Amino acid sequence: MKHLGAREPFGERGGMFPGVGEATSYAFERRLSRRNLLGGGSEGGQSPPPRRHPVITIDGPAGAGKSTVSRELARRLGYRRLDTGAMYRAVALSVAAAGVAPDDEPALRAHLDGLTLETDGSRLWINGREVTGEIRTQEIGELTSRLTTLKPVRDTVTPIQRRLAAAGGVVLEGRDTGTVVCPDAEMKFYLDASLDIRARRRHAELTRGGVSMALDAVRKEIETRDEQDMTRAIAPLRRPADAIVVDATDLTVNEVVERMLEAVERRRCCTRS
Ligand code: DC
Repeated sequence: MKHLGAREPFGERGGMFPGVGEATSYAFERRLSRRNLLGGGSEGGQSPPPRRHPVITIDGPAGAGKSTVSRELARRLGYRRLDTGAMYRAVALSVAAAGVAPDDEPALRAHLDGLTLETDGSRLWINGREVTGEIRTQEIGELTSRLTTLKPVRDTVTPIQRRLAAAGGVVLEGRDTGTVVCPDAEMKFYLDASLDIRARRRHAELTRGGVSMALDAVRKEIETRDEQDMTRAIAPLRRPADAIVVDATDLTVNEVVERMLEAVERRRCCTRS
């Protein structure tokens, strides 16, 4: 891509999200400092330890509630949020609009090279035009699923996601954020829920949005999406070995977020010295 970067609040001037609480992130910073991951300044040297706030990843299958949960978790922690799936959806929208065939690798690479994609974590702009409202259609969902299996697409988007996460103080959500994008994240969650409940939630969401689709068809679609996400060769959906699994089948959003916050707090206590 010609340029793919951050709009506020990922920009240098901060922005619409509340600032990251300094005290609450202290233990993480100490740990990062011990692991010498912060860059600059040396352990035990004269200069104060450099600062980086934690990176939290939430991976999981379609419909498990990652979007809502990550938004709320980020809000409660005062962190930024990065919806990695939305970035892929925006790329898919641009591919569709340009009429590029996913299988035509040279054309796809040329298209990606000429693309400008910006995000503030939730909203997205393609070549300067906001596309946030256009990426959630069925067609774009299907094309995204196809495109995310392709190396040129992942090779383009993953480094950008890493760059956006590098400053810390961020909750990333997606399929590979704890395994591929940020394998060194301080805190990883895998959010799961039964196929049945995910289908019911998605069905209710569609109905609210005025889309009429049989529950069985929604279930089948989610099943197909799971299969694609889990079996693809590049960056398949996997539970990171060091992730905390949260099964949201019988939990409300608030209960899920509370569990995650408790885990964050526990980790904080463990790393406090
Ligand atoms: O979460 P979502 O439905 O907006 O994701 C859209 C598609 O992108 C879905 O097929 C999974 C894929 N995806 C991915 O491959 N890697 C990510 N980190 C996020 C999403």
